[in-house]
Amino acid sequence: MHPVTILIVAVAIFGVAIYAITDAITRRNAKFNVQGMPGPWMIPWVGRVHDLPINFMWLKFKDWADEYGPIYRTKMLGANFVIVSDEKMAEELLVKRAKVYSDRPVIRSLFDSKSTHGSMEYLPLMGRNEYWSRQRKFTHAYLTEASNAHYHGLMDFEVKRWLYNLLKEPDNFSFSLEDMASKVMCQLTWDDPSLSAYCTKSAWGLLTQMSPAGPITNVLTPLWHLPTFMNPWKIAERKRHDEQQEWWMTRLRETKQKMAEGKQRPCFTRQYLEAASIGRTSNISSEYEASSVIGMMALVGIFTVAGPLYYFLVCMVHHPQWLEKCQREIEQACGERMPTLNDSPNLPTLRACIKEAMRWKPNVPTGVAHEVEIDDMYNGMFIPKGTRILPLDFAFLRNPVKYPDPDSFRPERWLEAPWPTFQVPLTKFPNLKGMTSFGWGQRQCLGMSITQDEMLLAAGGLAWAFNLKRKIDPETGEEIEVPLDKSNSLLIVKPDPFEMAFEIRSERKRMEVVNQWKIAEAVDIKARADFLKQAEQADKRNVGIGDEVM
Ligand code: HEM
Ligand SMILES: *[C@@H]1O[C@H](CO)[C@@H](O)[C@H](O)[C@H]1NC(C)=O
Ligand SMILES: *[C@@H]1O[C@H](CO)[C@@H](O)[C@H](O)[C@H]1NC(C)=O
Repeated sequence: MHPVTILIVAVAIFGVAIYAITDAITRRNAKFNVQGMPGPWMIPWVGRVHDLPINFMWLKFKDWADEYGPIYRTKMLGANFVIVSDEKMAEELLVKRAKVYSDRPVIRSLFDSKSTHGSMEYLPLMGRNEYWSRQRKFTHAYLTEASNAHYHGLMDFEVKRWLYNLLKEPDNFSFSLEDMASKVMCQLTWDDPSLSAYCTKSAWGLLTQMSPAGPITNVLTPLWHLPTFMNPWKIAERKRHDEQQEWWMTRLRETKQKMAEGKQRPCFTRQYLEAASIGRTSNISSEYEASSVIGMMALVGIFTVAGPLYYFLVCMVHHPQWLEKCQREIEQACGERMPTLNDSPNLPTLRACIKEAMRWKPNVPTGVAHEVEIDDMYNGMFIPKGTRILPLDFAFLRNPVKYPDPDSFRPERWLEAPWPTFQVPLTKFPNLKGMTSFGWGQRQCLGMSITQDEMLLAAGGLAWAFNLKRKIDPETGEEIEVPLDKSNSLLIVKPDPFEMAFEIRSERKRMEVVNQWKIAEAVDIKARADFLKQAEQADKRNVGIGDEVM
């Protein structure tokens, strides 16, 4: 090891030890611990980090739920955790008592993640404070308006581009899948799909930084407090953070510049700047805050949608009979054309396959923690202020009473009586909105509609155009398996890189995939050019008027 590394490790170990001892002494007091709740045996203070795997943590949490019950406590490096695996209990705590159960735990490896000191940067991570409140309202209003307008057609546009890319470069599907999700968000926020690659990278950086499986400082939290000169984690995060913020600000400044020239087409940033110019800021305090709330919106819509879309592919490869059912349904509902959002009522099988993919392979399997703001009692159990409540989505979705045969992919559970989750009318159900995967109470996900719509269009387009199959190894002639249980362990999960084949369903479909994209692309190019031309003409007229006045 490098001497500096040895020094850092030595100081770190010393620091952790001192911190642990002082903390253990001050916190032995009962009022700092969850009382009267079952849970695994724990080492004082350290709790249960030594054997809690950072990877696939939700599986261990689920094992403990099977052993200790639907609500149990554990401790990790001084922090109290209550793991909830029963939907009714999650409802009672996180919805009925939302007033005091809607804060967020601090994420150590970010600067001011809760925005306690007014950083105003990451809405989903903010404490329950004024910044969160106004940014949540803002985000909700903008996303709802876009949803109601069916995203001005840009989601259909990006799905067409994606299918074309799949035809052209099927082996690059994982890039193009994430890029599609990213382009949708970059179009909405800045009207600029060319920003997608950077935006995806930026989203990945933040996702890694905030996940327990990310930097070690999220687990060995005292390490974060090492002085900056010997703290590689802080130095790296400073760089990541500053670059991201600068990029968001640059987007806002560019939009402003283009607006001044009349060359900015509608997008969230323009909408904000226009409203702000007549004093309607939605209580957003500054352009810095605006650039962050909009930038965060772009980021949060990438891996959240990419995850279920990846798993839809995996599910269809493993269950080709369901893909066939979707294809037949699409033919009946849409004839030869690709499905649109208006076809949704006629596509219950497709919706069932999407929902079942999300149930079977949840992409936020641990759930997102809420923090309690007061000392509280629940069913005779004491939950101290500062406890983190983890609504364990993986456990909700494997409840054998609600989902019989929970470990199998069974889309029929959404389509047929007497499955407990069957619900009519099938023109509406199954739908994604309100799934436990989107979280709880005042913190519930703001992207439910956009997810539901994007999944329908993307999965519908896929099924319409392709058969989704295993690849054949050219050397052995055998199928290459698509693994079911290999993924990363970040807060938002996606499968590890895998290979598969996208087999176009017919020559006619091949032509249609190409043609519909070429037409959409030409229309888009022309619309953008026309907009610029108009701007230039308006500009000339303005100069003309100015001349006359003088
Ligand atoms: C399958 C896709 C998605 C899943 C599973 C998902 C899941 C979640 C979860 C679990 C939370 C935290 C809920 C809680 O604390 O109880 C959340 C919050 C949030 N989601 Fe999503 N999400 C998805 C897609 C999206 C999309 C596409 C967007 C936006 C374009 C979005 C925007 C947000 C925002 C802004 C929050 C923060 C809400 C707050 O803290 O007040 N989500 N989401
Ligand atoms: C996938 O496509 C992108 C964009 O065209 C490109 O940058 C990347 O190198 C490609 N990756 C592979 C593995 O072909
Ligand atoms: C701005 O804040 C004020 C005071 O808290 C509140 O009354 C008002 O409704 C807010 N406006 C918006 C658009 O959120």
